[in-house]
Amino acid sequence: MKIDIDRERLTSELEELGAISQAQPPVVTRVVFTEADLRGREYVKQLCREAGLSVREDAAGNTFARWAGENPELEPVATGSHIDAIPNAGRFDGTVGVLGGLEAIRSLAGAGYKPRRSLELVMFTSEEPTRFGIGCLGSRLLGGLLDPETAGGRLDRDGVSLDNARWAAGFEGPLASVPLPPGYYSAFVEMHIEQGPILERHNVPLGVVTAIAAPASFEVAIEGEGGHAGAVLMADRHDAFLAAAEIALAVEKSARSSGSNDTVGTVGVCEVFPGAVNSVPSRVRMEIDVRDTDEARRDSVLQKIKLACEEVADRRGVKTSLRLVNADPPVHCHPHVVDTLVQACKTHGLPFERMISRAYHDSLFMSRIAPTAMLFIPCRGGVSHRPDEYASPEAVAQGTLVLAETLAQLAS
Ligand code: GLV
Ligand code: MN
Ligand code: MN
Repeated sequence: MKIDIDRERLTSELEELGAISQAQPPVVTRVVFTEADLRGREYVKQLCREAGLSVREDAAGNTFARWAGENPELEPVATGSHIDAIPNAGRFDGTVGVLGGLEAIRSLAGAGYKPRRSLELVMFTSEEPTRFGIGCLGSRLLGGLLDPETAGGRLDRDGVSLDNARWAAGFEGPLASVPLPPGYYSAFVEMHIEQGPILERHNVPLGVVTAIAAPASFEVAIEGEGGHAGAVLMADRHDAFLAAAEIALAVEKSARSSGSNDTVGTVGVCEVFPGAVNSVPSRVRMEIDVRDTDEARRDSVLQKIKLACEEVADRRGVKTSLRLVNADPPVHCHPHVVDTLVQACKTHGLPFERMISRAYHDSLFMSRIAPTAMLFIPCRGGVSHRPDEYASPEAVAQGTLVLAETLAQLAS
C-alpha cells in the first residue's frame, strides 16, 4: 500500500485552526467551551464530515468521527488528541494529533485501504486544565477516572459550573453516560509534539513513547493579614504573599533535590489579594504542578511541599490550606501498540527513539480502557505552551505517515 500524506492540506488546516483563537494570531488561546473552542470544534467536525466520517458527541463534548470497518462489530482502533489551548499558546499542541489523525485516515482511504476494524478519530474535551482546574477532563471521564456525579459541579473562576458551560455549548445528557467500558477500543494511539528538546537535539524525526510521567496538582490557599503598605511595621506583618514566595521556593527545592531529572515542580498560578501596590497582601491562592516518572518519588515531593507549607505557616503566623486536585499514576505504554509504532517507523525507513513523555496527555486516561501508546514528533527548540511553538510540515507529515501505517496495522 502506498500512503500519500497531503502535506499542503494538513499544513493549511493547522494554520486555519490556529487562527481560531480568543487572542490575536499567532497567539492561540482556545479555552474549553468558549466561542473559539466551539468554532474550532465546528471546523474539525466539518472536515471529518467532508472525509465521509460519521460524527458523534458525548455529554462532555468529546467528539468521535468514525470510519466504519468491514467488521463493524469488532472493537475499533482509535487515535486523536485535543484542540483546546492554554492562554498564550501555539498552534501544534494537541492539534497535530487531531488533524494529523484525520489526515492519516484520509490518506488510508485514498490508498484504497479498507479497515477490518472501524477507525475512530477522537477530539477530547479540555485536555488543558485552564478553565476547570483539572487536566484531561474529557478523557478522564471516558476512562472512568472522574466521578461523573460531582464533575458537573466543578466551577470556573467566574463561578460557572461545568454543567452550565457544557449545556450552553450544546452538550446535554448526564455525564454518567460518558465513561466507556474497558476494552471498548482495541487500541489507542496519540500523535503529539514532543514539547521537549530531545528529538531535535538527537536529530531524530520520531519518538515512540513508552511511558507517561505521573502528574499531580494541588491548590494552596494562604490567609495572612492585610493592611496599609506604609503604616504596618515590617515586624508586625503576616504577609500572605511572602509566605507564598517561600512555599514556591520550597517547591523548587523539593523537586530539585529528588535525585532525578524526571522530577519537576512548578507554581504556575499565584493570585494575590487585594492586588494593590499600597496594600499588604492578605490572601493568596496558588496552583502547584508536580510530576515524575516515579510515583513514589513524586509523592515524596508532595509530602515535602506539604511540610514546607506547615512550617512557613507557623513561622509567619499565616494559615495555609492544601487541596489536592489530582495525583495520577504514571502509565507504561502497551507493548503491542509500541511494537506496531516501531515497526511502522522501520517500514518507512524513519529513525526513531524510544522515550518517555514528561507532559501528560489524554493517553494517560485512554490507557485505562484501551492498549495505548504515543508517537512524538519534534518541535523547534522543544518549545511548547508558547505562541512560537513550531513543528515543520515535514515533521508533521512524517509523524502522520507513521500514524497512518500504525492505524492500518492495528485495524487489519
Ligand atoms: C499538558 O498540557 C501538560 O500540561 O502536560
Ligand atoms: Mn498543552
Ligand atoms: Mn497537548
